[in-house]
Amino acid sequence: METEKKIDRNYLELFRDLIHKKLGIYISQEKDYLLESKLGRMLAKSEFENAAQLYYSLKDNDNNILEELIRYITTNHTFFFRENLHLKILRNDILMRKKSNPLIWVAAASTGEEVYSIIIELLENGINNFTIVASDINKHVLVSMKKGIYSIDRMKEIQPSLIRKYFDADPDNMSLYRIKNLLKPNIIVKKLNLVEKIKFEKKFNYIFCRNVLIYFNRDTQIQVVNNLLDNLEDDGYLFVGHSESLMNICDNVESVFTSVYNKKI
Ligand SMILES: C[S@@+](CC[C@H](N)C(=O)[O-])C[C@H]1O[C@@H](n2cnc3c(N)ncnc32)[C@H](O)[C@@H]1O
Repeated sequence: METEKKIDRNYLELFRDLIHKKLGIYISQEKDYLLESKLGRMLAKSEFENAAQLYYSLKDNDNNILEELIRYITTNHTFFFRENLHLKILRNDILMRKKSNPLIWVAAASTGEEVYSIIIELLENGINNFTIVASDINKHVLVSMKKGIYSIDRMKEIQPSLIRKYFDADPDNMSLYRIKNLLKPNIIVKKLNLVEKIKFEKKFNYIFCRNVLIYFNRDTQIQVVNNLLDNLEDDGYLFVGHSESLMNICDNVESVFTSVYNKKI
């Protein structure tokens, strides 16, 4: 079991604010047990003796410590073909509206299962020309995405024929599979924090930002959604998670399918 150091209660509030400011993630008081445990484990693994030292080094913008904080605080759970209906909506729209070389941004891509699911869906439907920008705030998940090695538990939603076509079994570990290199050339990987102002040179036809807004409070959700919309083509689609409605947080979008929005023009 991982060891934990005690976090002085007086510092919890300060860490809550700092995490909210730097990562956008708002951990409410009901989840203090989680915050204490995550910070306690981080502190035990660090060179710091107490919560005060850890807090002030983060406050002084020590980048290595901030990366560690991001690693401990973010929830990176994901799996292949999650909320699969969105993938069908995407490929139908590309085919129906004859979008050539669509530009897609997967804005909280975690370890890459979502990105590779999109690519498999497109290739299986004869869509070979596209570019995907895959981003996340956590640099460690981006490294895993580039490696593309996955445990079979994340692959339950993939048909066996597609596993054979797009993955190689790891000869040394029966529960691991490696993504074939043919899925990698269309991806550009970037470390991006959604609460910072982001401006890409070209606007996207499709943006996926799924299962991350739930970690933000309403003000941050508004800020992040506006940031995303600034980078979306006027006729583009924004996909959010199935439990993340934009209806009460944004007036300038309309719903086109479940959890899929476009701009009101
Ligand atoms: C639960 S995962 C969702 C992964 C995938 N989109 C899905 O639906 O399966 C949430 C991801 O959001 C990322 N994240 C959290 N805060 C972020 C921020 N401020 N900017 C960018 N990514 C963030 C986390 O690092 C994590 O990988």
